[in-house]
Amino acid sequence: MTRHWRKCLWVLALYGTCATAQSGRGELLYTTYCVTCHTEQLHWREKQVATNWTRLVAEVRRWQTNGNLDWSRDDIDAVARYLNILHYHHQLPEK
Ligand code: HEC
Repeated sequence: MTRHWRKCLWVLALYGTCATAQSGRGELLYTTYCVTCHTEQLHWREKQVATNWTRLVAEVRRWQTNGNLDWSRDDIDAVARYLNILHYHHQLPEK
């Protein structure tokens, strides 16, 4: 948690707000690499795979592996956070 907040403050100084800057990166990565065959429809399915935060992160990791994108943990985290804000609303684990 501490690490997150320190990063958050740093981002806050640069961009003005934490949440926007964080979801901004996730959004950029997602819209660049993932929406090609992902319409929002997929995430609104009745039978979700990403039923909690851990599984959501696992799905994002699986998909970036599929696409040979070689994302860092932070990239995966940013996209998972973006999707979580956009749609899933899972409880985030304490760090
Ligand atoms: C080749 C097309 C394709 C690309 C590219 C793709 N996806 Fe997917 N994705 C799918 C399909 C089809 C499913 C549903 C079937 C499945 O889970 O295999 C899915 C399922 C998912 C799910 C689970 C949905 C749910 O609510 O259970 C997540 C999360 C996801 N993708 C994230 C991503 C991310 C992040 C990227 C970019 C790195 C990405 N996908 C790129 C086709 C794609």
